[in-house]
Amino acid sequence: MQPKTPLRRFFWIGEPIPYLPGQTVAAALNEAGIFEFGQSQTGMRAAVFCGIGQCQNCMVQLENGAETESCLLLCSDGLRVQKRGFDTSRLEQEHV
Ligand code: FES
Repeated sequence: MQPKTPLRRFFWIGEPIPYLPGQTVAAALNEAGIFEFGQSQTGMRAAVFCGIGQCQNCMVQLENGAETESCLLLCSDGLRVQKRGFDTSRLEQEHV
């Protein structure tokens, strides 16, 4: 039996994560069993707290180095996100 919607994926630190249309990165990561997103701006464990873009405790880093709230960021095919301050050259070295 075919799924009603095609499988969509974005990438978390190089790992494909499935998501549903309209799902946020934070929700998709949580659904995949990932609840810790690195270190927050205050040095605490980055994770979903408010879920509405107010606390900035769920910040992630985009491919271009910009940081954004994962609880507000909608998933899209091929989107690449990682922990704040993650050295992306590590991924390039692993996938050569
Ligand atoms: S969980 Fe508070 S801004 Fe995302």
